[in-house]
Order: sequence, then C-alpha cells, then structure tokens
Amino acid sequence: MTVLTGALAYAGMPGAAGAPNTRSTAAVLPPVVPQPESERALKGPGFTIGAETPIIVKSSDPDSREVGRYLGRLLRPATGYDLKVEAGRRDHRPAITLDRGGPKSLGEEGYTLTSRAEGVRLTARGAEGLFRGIQTLRQLLPAAVESPTVQRARWTVAPVHITDKPRYGYRSTMLDVARRFYPVADVKRYIDQAAAYKMNTLHLHLTDDQGWRIAIDALPNLTKAGASTQSGFTGGSWFYTKAQYQEIVAYAKSRFITVVPEIDGPGHTSAAQASVPDINCDDKTIPPYSGFDVKISVVCLRDPQHIANVSKFLTTVMTEVAALTPGPYIHVGGDEVPARPAEEYKAYVQAATSAVQAQGKKVIGWHDLSAGTIPAGSLMQYWGDEDARETIGTAEEHKDILLARKGVAQNASFIMSPADRSYLDMKYDSSTPYGLRWAGYVPVKNAYDWDPTTVTAKPDGTSPVVPANQIAGVEAALWADRAYTGSNELPTSTSQFVEPSVYTDFMAFPRLPAVAEIGWSPKSTHDWTRFSSRLAAQGPRWKAAGIGFYAAPDVPWANGS
Ligand code: ACM
Repeated sequence: MTVLTGALAYAGMPGAAGAPNTRSTAAVLPPVVPQPESERALKGPGFTIGAETPIIVKSSDPDSREVGRYLGRLLRPATGYDLKVEAGRRDHRPAITLDRGGPKSLGEEGYTLTSRAEGVRLTARGAEGLFRGIQTLRQLLPAAVESPTVQRARWTVAPVHITDKPRYGYRSTMLDVARRFYPVADVKRYIDQAAAYKMNTLHLHLTDDQGWRIAIDALPNLTKAGASTQSGFTGGSWFYTKAQYQEIVAYAKSRFITVVPEIDGPGHTSAAQASVPDINCDDKTIPPYSGFDVKISVVCLRDPQHIANVSKFLTTVMTEVAALTPGPYIHVGGDEVPARPAEEYKAYVQAATSAVQAQGKKVIGWHDLSAGTIPAGSLMQYWGDEDARETIGTAEEHKDILLARKGVAQNASFIMSPADRSYLDMKYDSSTPYGLRWAGYVPVKNAYDWDPTTVTAKPDGTSPVVPANQIAGVEAALWADRAYTGSNELPTSTSQFVEPSVYTDFMAFPRLPAVAEIGWSPKSTHDWTRFSSRLAAQGPRWKAAGIGFYAAPDVPWANGS
C-alpha cells in the first residue's frame, strides 16, 4: 500500500501558490474550496493527528460538543482512530481544540483555524462556525481522509492560519425530487456533499407535474395518485412520509443546513390536479402524468369558487408542511405557467403567500412571483440568463428583467441562480449523457465565472437591476427533467435511468463546489485559474469518497486523478 503524503503533496500543482490576499507568497498554501477569506502558510510541519489525539471542546454548549463528535466520526473511517471528545480547557497535550470563544466579527458562520506542530485550534462564535471550519480542516488533511475504509497515511494538517467567513448568508442547492424521486439515503448523501462546500440551505422541489412527494394527512390522495409517477415511471408510491421528511430536516440541521420545501404553483401542478378534484375547472381529477413536458398545467383560478378551492388547498398543504419545517421559509414556486389572464396569476400569489404567512413563515418564489403582490421580507429566486441581460436598458427588456424590477420595487431580496451558470442539470458539453441544454452548455468555467451582482446587469457589468444590497445569496439547482442516459432524446426504456446518486455525483461535481465558492468567498479572490487548480486538488478527495464526478476537460487535474 502506498503511503499518502499530506497537503504539501499539492505543492507542485499549477497555481497552488494561493490567493491574492495571502500574506506569504513564498510558502505553498494548501488548496481549499471555497477559498477562505484570508489564509497564511505557517512555518513548521503542521499538526499530525494520532490515535491518542483528543478533540477538546471548549464549551458546555451541547451543539458544540456534538460538532466535536461529528469531527470524530468524520475522521474515524479512514484513520481508524476513535478520537476521544473531551470537554474543558486546553491543556498542554497536542490536541484538536474547538473553541467557541471567537470574536463577534466572525458572525455565525465564520471561524479561524490554526495548525501548528503542537495542535490545531478552531475558533468560532458557536457550533455553526465550528462546523464550517471543520469542512476546511478536512481539506488540510491528505485526500485519503475521505475514504470509507482505513488507509495508511500520515494524518498531517497543513500548517496554516485561516480567518474565514461567508460573503453571502444564503448558499443553497436544490434537488428536484419531483421529476426523479430520491430515497432518503440519497438526499442525506447529497446533504453531506453540499455541507462539505459550506452550503447552508437545501431547497427540495417537492411537487411538480410528475409527482407529489410529501405526505399531507388531510389530502391522502396527493400521495396515492400524485405520488404514483415520476418522469418515465408509473405505478409506484414515491413520496416522503412525515417521519422521513423530518428525518431529512434533522439530518440537514445536524450539518447546519436549513431545508426549504417548495410547493410549486399555479403551474407544474399536474400531480396535485390528479389528486384533488376541485382545483380543476371541471371538478374532476386529471390522469397522473409521467412525461417530460413543462408548461402543461395550471390550477383553476377562473372564478371565485375555484379561487376559494385553491386557497383552501394551499392552506391545508402549507399548514402541514410548515408544521414539519423548522426553517423560516417556504418556496411557493410561481414559474412556467401556461398563458392565463394576469388576474388569475395574481390571485394565486395572494392565496399562496397568505397561506405561508399564516403559518409564520416567509415566502420564497421564483422571480416570476413578483408579477403579484409579495409580502415584505420575501426572497425571489432569479433564474434568468445572459439573453435577458442583453436587453437591459433597451426598449424591449426581457420579461425576466421586468419581473426582477418588480421584485426590487417590492423590496424583495434575491437568490441568484442564473440558468446558464448555476443550473446543474444543464449538460457540461456535448459528451454529457444526462440533462438539458436550453440555457446552453454549462462547463465548469461558466459555473464559476460569474458574479451575483452582475447577473441582472448589462453585459458590461453596469446598471444592475437588483442592487447589491438586495442580494441574499446563490443557489445551484439540480433539476431532474432528464436524469437518464441518452438525454438528447426522450427515453425508450427505464434502463436508461441511473441511480439518483450517479446523476447527482456527475452533474454536481465539480459544479456545485464552483457555485459554493461564488456564494462563500470574497469577490477579491475570484480567479478562474487559481480556482480550477484548487478544484483539481479536490479530485483525489472525490475519488477517495467514491463520488463519480465528471473529470471535466477545463480543470487541470493532476495525472491519475
Ligand atoms: C425553472 O427553471 N422553471 C424555475
């Protein structure tokens, strides 16, 4: 068995000399994604973890203790060490110390990390910052630390001092569990992958034409008829029970990730319309849908009676979903509705937003929702692309830009998920077996080379429609419209569908880390050449972890990775 060396093995990699804000240019910095705010190489060998190294948690806070145990569990499979988690003050033994006595300036998620021969010290304001810092710590260890089986290696934490905190407070990724159902284990796996890159939100697209995925006790048919289909599949029962959904929420919480459930409407509603008769204009259910089209459905908003029916439906659903969801937000969708009078759409926005507000939750919607009246404090998720930017300031601005203007005027903040940058279901290039390309190919460079402040600016970066102070963060959205091989055509056999984890691994890696860095790292560190080199160093980690990533040609992978 080869002995794997520590982070300094990356010294020979192109561009490994660190970010512009590093103080030491001579020393080689370990490659970390997302790039920390500031990072300095220290003299000396760094700290080597041994079987007797304690994890000392300087806090009686149970959440911080739990983060200490999480670190122990993280290190156990590859090292074979069962590191003890101890409370109390740091003594003179070599240790990994988690200290929640950090300065206020770090905020909830920031941390400092120092690795020297005598130990590693991670400081934060609380458990969340310690957790984010641990994600950096694992990247300072040899790649083999990600292996699920015991490896022989010298477990040296590269000698550095890092001070870090996020650029944006909202850093999300989305799974489309409606088009393709993800078993709980797959969602948990994805949560761990997102957490490793310091994402803090998981948006679950729970409802669409092809399926309704969350149990609603008062409307059991939603998970009979409505959960019997996926894109390309019929005759199943694909949904999360309340206990399963709560299991996902709790698992995410243990990774400091907030779950945002989405109940999409007034379009993307065939599964609901197949389950609940009185939200259809003829008061009859429609057949469950297992196809691949979009913009095929809308609930009935034609007359006061049906608006009342839809309102009641939304109140029932939002009441139960809110009760299961500790996070502050519910996403109400609002995208891709077949043409209807504007008043009908506005009636839906009114019904959906008041149902969410009645539960004490805040509203998120696709930016389309701004066509209606949205409550103060709402978040709009912008999914426009370059074509829309090109029309800014012209006589014929794109509808996405006009809607963004309406959202800004209503004081919404924005989550930026431009389809041509952060839609992980877009193919990387013509060789990609899965996905779509309506927003163009999204090679890794495109997923990285953008900035939230210019997503709604002119192509030269001027005249942003959404001002910087109304940007909450970013999302990498992994739709599942075409989660099968040969996706340039419709599938002819269910054997073309791969396991959800195979699809997510390939489509999210390396692009999820790219979007994560856009959300976390200071704009001043933004540099494709340096990023792609740090990203290349993640390859051996993903290999060790068993992540089936795409070895994209625009990333300078080291030989053999
Ligand atoms: C969307 O991509 N329909 C939000």
